[in-house]
Amino acid sequence: TNSPEQAAQEAVVLPIQRPEGCPFDPPAELAELRERQPLTRLRYPDGHLGWLATGHSTVRAIAADTRFSSRYELMHYPFPGTEDLEIPPATVGDLTGMDQPEHTRYRRLLAGKFTVRRMRALTARVEQITAEHLDAMERQGPTVDLVRAFAHPVPALMICELLGVPEVRRADFMERAAAISAPESTLDEQIAALAGLGDFFRDLISDKRAHPTDDVLSDLTTSELTDEELAGIAGFLLAAGLDTTANMIGLGTFALLSHPEQAAALRADPGLADQAVEELLRYLTITPTGVRAALEDVEVDGQLIRIGESVTISIQAANRDPARFDDPDTLDIHRKATGHLAFGHGIHQCLGQQLARVEMRVALPALFTRFPTLRLAVPPEEVPLRTDMNIYGVHRLPVTWGEE
Ligand code: HEM
Repeated sequence: TNSPEQAAQEAVVLPIQRPEGCPFDPPAELAELRERQPLTRLRYPDGHLGWLATGHSTVRAIAADTRFSSRYELMHYPFPGTEDLEIPPATVGDLTGMDQPEHTRYRRLLAGKFTVRRMRALTARVEQITAEHLDAMERQGPTVDLVRAFAHPVPALMICELLGVPEVRRADFMERAAAISAPESTLDEQIAALAGLGDFFRDLISDKRAHPTDDVLSDLTTSELTDEELAGIAGFLLAAGLDTTANMIGLGTFALLSHPEQAAALRADPGLADQAVEELLRYLTITPTGVRAALEDVEVDGQLIRIGESVTISIQAANRDPARFDDPDTLDIHRKATGHLAFGHGIHQCLGQQLARVEMRVALPALFTRFPTLRLAVPPEEVPLRTDMNIYGVHRLPVTWGEE
């Protein structure tokens, strides 16, 4: 292990600029760093001297190691503009910001509700909801914003199904949910929308206590969780499950439209859907970056990470590591992309991944089969990208179909 002076000298800042004209590729500097040193010193905007992991096996090892904490208040953030942020601890019900044993308690309670039987029932619902939205798209077309018409409402309605939001309250729910992630919402508006959703969930929970139905929230009312915890969990499931899946459908469609031979292969053989989805998860890695903080001194890759130091795990760099995936920068839906880290790894690995997979496996092939001439309605460089968000994707995706 090198001296502090040497470490400071070697430290890099987190590359965030994606290559010009390549909306699907990570910043090019990440590949150079990964090749030179998959665990490197990182200078954080607040001056903290921590680490950046870019190699697949390194990122995976750190994510699996509970000597690295996920508690937000222990972290330094690597993103520019965050240097003066006072990072508060996780809100109630936010599993991603907790460590053991609190995390274990919530995770156990929740995992028991994401059963195979329930996921199977949700598959039938996603098929129906997808078909309804494609019908509506056809009536509305031949030019629509795919995000608004399809990529956002389908996963939003699936969250309604999961939480048991009754039919009559869905319009209200969808409006509130959209306000949180709308590109034009200010931070204050987003916080206000979140608070409104808190009230919405508290109402819903008292309904479920009185009249339980077949859904995750009703099931959880019989656990020891308080109303406050239940409302927190409901809000967290919405936050974790909506923008992620919506952006995988939106950005995934953009990627397929930009690689017409891949779209044609999927259309010709919808049986490729399962592996196409894994490959899109890998290739797009819409949650590009995670952060951990060392709870004790830990040796990784022969280097000593000291207690209190923050480690940024670049999931997008890991998912493009040539040591793990051949020809990693090529989108190839025929490959077996298993082992990608797009759902995270370790105790925080995505709890909703089966639901997310079902949604993508149904929605993407259905879209491409239903609209064989689907194409962008604007030049690709005019598609507004979520470069400013934690979850990457497209703000809007204008598409059209029919005769040229
Ligand atoms: C955690 C990605 C969809 C629920 C995570 C993590 C990632 C992720 C990377 C780990 C975060 C960390 O380590 O800090 C995704 C992606 C999705 C998706 C890419 C869509 C394609 C969903 C859905 C749900 C969901 C549909 C549920 C409705 C959760 C939960 C956690 C989580 C509850 C926290 C698990 C824990 O901390 O124990 N997700 N997710 N996700 N996700 Fe997802």
